[in-house]
Amino acid sequence: MKKLLTIAALLALVSCSTAPKLSEAEQEAYKFADKLIAKMTLREKLGQLQQFTTSSADITGPDGVQRDAEACVRNGEVGSFLSIRTTEEMHHLQKVAVEQSRMGIPLIFGYDIIHGCRIIFPENLGAACSWNIEAIEHAARIAAEESAAFGFHWTFSPMCDISADARWGRVSEGAGEDPYLGAKIAAAIVRGYQGDDLASDKTIAACVKHFAAYGAPQAGRDYHTVDMSEMMFRDRYLPPYKAALEAGAVTVMSSFNDFMGVPASGNRWLMHTLLREELGFTGFVVSDYNAVHEQVAHGTAADGKDAAQQAMNAHLNMDMVYGDYINHGEQLVAEGKVSESTIDQLCREVLAVKYRLGLFDDPFKYGRQDHAEVMYRPENLQYARQVAAQSMVLLKNSGVLPLKEGTKIALVGPLADAPRDQLGAWRGFGEPEHSVTIREGLEERFGRQNILYAKGSDFRAPIKGGITEALRAARKADVVLLSIGLSCKESGEATSLTDISVPEPQQALLDALKGTGKPIVVLLGTGRAMDIRNEVDKSDALLVTWHGGTMEGAAVADLVSGDANPSGHLAMSFPYCVGQSPIHYSMKTTGRPRNGIEHNEKYLSRYMHAPNEPLFPFGYGLSYTEFDYSDLQVLTPEVEMDDTVKICVTVTNRGKYDGDDVAQLYVRDVVAQTTRPMRELKGFERFSLKAGEQRTITFELPTSSLAYCHTDHSFKTDPGTFKIWVGADSNATLEAEFTVK
Ligand code: NOJ
Repeated sequence: MKKLLTIAALLALVSCSTAPKLSEAEQEAYKFADKLIAKMTLREKLGQLQQFTTSSADITGPDGVQRDAEACVRNGEVGSFLSIRTTEEMHHLQKVAVEQSRMGIPLIFGYDIIHGCRIIFPENLGAACSWNIEAIEHAARIAAEESAAFGFHWTFSPMCDISADARWGRVSEGAGEDPYLGAKIAAAIVRGYQGDDLASDKTIAACVKHFAAYGAPQAGRDYHTVDMSEMMFRDRYLPPYKAALEAGAVTVMSSFNDFMGVPASGNRWLMHTLLREELGFTGFVVSDYNAVHEQVAHGTAADGKDAAQQAMNAHLNMDMVYGDYINHGEQLVAEGKVSESTIDQLCREVLAVKYRLGLFDDPFKYGRQDHAEVMYRPENLQYARQVAAQSMVLLKNSGVLPLKEGTKIALVGPLADAPRDQLGAWRGFGEPEHSVTIREGLEERFGRQNILYAKGSDFRAPIKGGITEALRAARKADVVLLSIGLSCKESGEATSLTDISVPEPQQALLDALKGTGKPIVVLLGTGRAMDIRNEVDKSDALLVTWHGGTMEGAAVADLVSGDANPSGHLAMSFPYCVGQSPIHYSMKTTGRPRNGIEHNEKYLSRYMHAPNEPLFPFGYGLSYTEFDYSDLQVLTPEVEMDDTVKICVTVTNRGKYDGDDVAQLYVRDVVAQTTRPMRELKGFERFSLKAGEQRTITFELPTSSLAYCHTDHSFKTDPGTFKIWVGADSNATLEAEFTVK
């Protein structure tokens, strides 16, 4: 019986009746791959499914087994490397691959280019707050050009994981809590990296990660178990992955977590049924770092051989680092546990991507570009400055900002002059010496003589005499700019926190400065949403700068001087306190909603000593000017199924400054077949208005975008009434409704 099942499982992979449809380019690539496969030994095929790192490469995971990289290449036992830092090393290994290995198959080199290569853009959560899809795409294009010039063919990005849990450090790498915004951003990043021509020496392959649901680890602890219903997954977590695949991403990375009880790397439903059969993916899947072998620690594989067997039969193409594929593949085939046709299919998909990247035409074309011509182009630096400014979110302003010309500024805090920290996690090839720090940006804009700098405190420890020095600076100044928050080491992978408030020594600094009576502007540097009650309370203005990248300081100067007007809107709610985590605006109502009831009625869904609402909701962000939303109209109050709802709203800039804002459209299915979110973002438009200007914004909402996952897992729109809200954040109050017949 067991034998029969094994054989059935093997056959399933090759005899897939719903094989994805191939484009012409893919068919050509597959044909090319097949010709090679016919000449390859089993070991050589397995080599194409193995990715290693080298002893001089960046370390992005637990120490692996040390291998002689060059010998592996020569023997055809490896098809890819990750995290190598120099063009020379990549070209050297490539030369060995094409000249000394029997098949001469080129290697594919990958690197974590997450928010920029040389020029670093704001961390992804920050960039998402710009809601500027075009800018995000262009930033990815710049990163791709720089990466290709280094010699990389492939980046492990975009991270498409939705997360609403600020305890999880990796929120900095994603687009925040919302599937609709996340999907738009994921697709834009893929377009930016891959462009129209994968074989160009200016584009690189994207990698959709971490498939799947990695953003929902229990209790916000990285690598922890994920447990959710398929309905929740399809509604909230799948859309960004799907959008990135639809945008043409040619690779996917399996996630570390288990999914419905099975680790993603051995999860055939995820890797094959959903990804290939349903979503039509035709590229290849790489595991996350050691994730094939980690099935052993998950307790679903007995050993490395068993882990490789499960991953191969699940349709996972490439084993990142550990080596289970190359170590056990031959034996697995000999024992009939994995069929050779399965190996052929896994290998075909890898070779086809190499072919589409143009590596068989010219294995060295990436990395040959003139660095002086590609890196740090002045127009790209300007672009990074603009993206950084648009990412920053003004959460409070009692009128102190923008600063008046000639203002004397006390600039205090561990992030004020922190060229490395402002680059955030995954800084690629970003160089701190090229960072424009906040101190430099302000000195340039306001004049050196007007900036009195004192560090005041380290991130998590006081500095001897730091507060005294800060107070001295503050007393001589008109205003204090306090640049506090988290270091780059508290952002990204493996940085889960149980306390998401500003570390205590920095709060002490704020408390002391408050005593001077000088106006205080908090510049909050972070890669995650935080509990900032104390900072909001004690400041006169608060601007979230994120880890803003190479040009952060220039962007801060643009904003605080009023040369640019803040326009960022939160892509992730800032909770009132950590105990609310995870929290997002599109939660369900429950049977006992509190719905704004102020009194402490006991039997409602609520906390005893904290509100249900976050401190700042998704979508929130202030400007120096005032935008007014009025005259919301549904032009099509009744539509047929498969029709489009047309909605318009008037926006007016009533303030004194020109500015940009983001009009957001939220929808609620009033009575549905399953419980539905209170609100869901279904459209947005970033717009610019001069002071006093007015215009109409129109949203077109196809009824198909109201579809959701039903109990039978079908995805469809129900007829009935839908409420809508339009405004500048997820608490928008302008309300209307329409009916789908
Ligand atoms: C582990 C991370 O989870 C993943 O995002 C990254 O791409 C790999 N390491 C490679 O560095």
